[in-house]
Amino acid sequence: MSYHKFNLIDLLKERINMRNKKIVFFTGAGVSAESGISTFRDKDGLWEEYDIKDICTTGCLNTNRNETIEFYNKRRVDLKDKRPNIAHHTIAKLQKQYPDNINIITQNVDDLFEKAECQDVLHLHGFLTEVVCEEEECLYKRDIGYENQKVACPLCGEYIRPNIVFFGEKAPKYWDMYELLSEVDMIIIIGTSGNVINVHHLIEDAKYSILNNLEHSYAIKDDMFDKVIYERATVAIDEIKEIIIKYIKGSENEN
Ligand code: APR
Repeated sequence: MSYHKFNLIDLLKERINMRNKKIVFFTGAGVSAESGISTFRDKDGLWEEYDIKDICTTGCLNTNRNETIEFYNKRRVDLKDKRPNIAHHTIAKLQKQYPDNINIITQNVDDLFEKAECQDVLHLHGFLTEVVCEEEECLYKRDIGYENQKVACPLCGEYIRPNIVFFGEKAPKYWDMYELLSEVDMIIIIGTSGNVINVHHLIEDAKYSILNNLEHSYAIKDDMFDKVIYERATVAIDEIKEIIIKYIKGSENEN
């Protein structure tokens, strides 16, 4: 067999081997913290300032509509000048370099991954720039950018609301998450306290798991992870990137 043919088959094998490696980023508020977006449960986090039950729990639009709408209007308008940080950009670059391997799931409702030109980001808890009609049968949904929302649905006249999943409401994207996580090779969890989604279930089937948080969270048994980095995401992301590239190229045993 000529040298060139051998080389081509080798290359093909390497390509097929690379293509099969499914890598999933699962992120929370911590990945956006260094872009100036408050987390929820850290010191000075959002839940220190607001009571979850008043503005983020099913029924709050009936019992506390004005404050709830105002809370999301404020966060939406504030999002306009927020910029992705190096963690978002590095993940976007990895996804561009390895489009068949890199998947992004986030609990965040901000658009920093999109601003960093990430593709197909799975937002589990909604998307802050979108509003929907409260009338279930009405299909009105609009991305209003960084504006305050209007009051009434232009299609049916009912109230409109932020496209955010409140506690106690259905979160249909969770099914997409579990599907995406089936047969995952590597999962990288960045910036979540694990208080809402049990991250231990997410890493169960992964061949390799990385946790990057600022500090230990009581909701996460970090000894279940293959690698734990307690460091700001913008610093940890470099090491995480190196591990991923080695893994995709098949020299994961060297790390
Ligand atoms: N780099 C890495 N991690 C960070 C950073 C940072 N710069 N800053 C904070 N963190 C970590 C904290 O250590 C903490 O573990 O981010 C996590 C933030 O935890 P939470 O505030 O609980 O946010 P999150 O886990 O995303 O909340 C999940 O709860 O309120 C609901 O719907 C809301 O999606 C949210 C869900």
